[in-house]
Amino acid sequence: MITLGIETSCDDTAVAIIESDGKILSNVLTSQDVFHRDFGGIVPEIASRKHAELIGYTILEALKLASLLLEDINLISVTKGPGLVGSLLVGLEAAKSLSFALNKPLIGVNHLEGHIYSLFLEGAPLYKRKDVFPLLVLIVSGGHTELVLMDGFLKYKVLGRTRDDAAGEAIDKFARFLGYGYPGGPIIEKLGLEGDPNKYQFPNLTFKGSPYEFSFSGLKTAGVYFIQNHPDIIQNDLASVAASFENALVRILVERTIKAATDFNVKGIGVVGGVSANKRLRETFSRVSPVPVYFPQKALSTDNAAMIALTGYLRHTINGETSDLTLDAISRLEL
Ligand code: KG4
Ligand code: ZN
Repeated sequence: MITLGIETSCDDTAVAIIESDGKILSNVLTSQDVFHRDFGGIVPEIASRKHAELIGYTILEALKLASLLLEDINLISVTKGPGLVGSLLVGLEAAKSLSFALNKPLIGVNHLEGHIYSLFLEGAPLYKRKDVFPLLVLIVSGGHTELVLMDGFLKYKVLGRTRDDAAGEAIDKFARFLGYGYPGGPIIEKLGLEGDPNKYQFPNLTFKGSPYEFSFSGLKTAGVYFIQNHPDIIQNDLASVAASFENALVRILVERTIKAATDFNVKGIGVVGGVSANKRLRETFSRVSPVPVYFPQKALSTDNAAMIALTGYLRHTINGETSDLTLDAISRLEL
């Protein structure tokens, strides 16, 4: 069975074609970074316009790279949310048109769920594996930070979310205040490579409540104040400032995830979403975790359509789900 996935929830126009076991036949991503960079964040109006310009080309390119024709596609899977409505609608309309014209089933999927299945795609450590549950998954991206307990494919229990900002949002804001563009994560990672991660302290807000929840607004504010109050240090020791900020963020993510993994006695931990590409996060998890930690391939940590294709395939084959042509964008959608 051949599934075509479409992902346009944010600023990447992505189309992928996969086989049923998660083997990737093509995975095309047309990045819009260059159009948003100077604004320090994503401009929704620009994102949807660019999606509309790029989607046709991206679909054709994915077919060409997979050496397939439209008629060879058996299922069309598309992100229905969460995300920017104008962006989501472009992908949804393309998917619905294909489904109608080809008379092939359509399925709308949750972008967050998609990130989870990046672990099960070709090249990832859980490719073709089914013996990994119970698995704890940390979804950590620009819009979300949450801990999810999985008892099997499509079986989730959300243990906790961030109460305010997502981890990616905090690091993006920090980079922006330093005068850099979007996305901030890779920039801070590069700046901090040679720095001392323990040199500066960035206190995070502590709060009472569930130990599986997160909060990054305190860290974000501490970062912004540090930049405002210490121009001399920023000038002379930026590498250690970046490394220390990144380290503070990583510590929170790792500590809370390991606590949940121990409490729920899981077999392993999966870390997915854009921030999971981070080298310091990967190294720290691998160093301190008592159970195996799995990461997607770096290129599949950030948004892509292969993960959307696999999610749709699983929902369609395991649960028999399909969507009809009334499928609509849902900007706020939880797992
Ligand atoms: O999953 P994603 O591509 O889009 C969302 O669904 O949000 O995640 C984007 C986020 C951004 O905040 C970006 O700065 C962050 O992932 N990110 C990173 C790295 N690469 C992307 N953060 C830290 N280190 C990285 N290498
Ligand atoms: Zn994402």
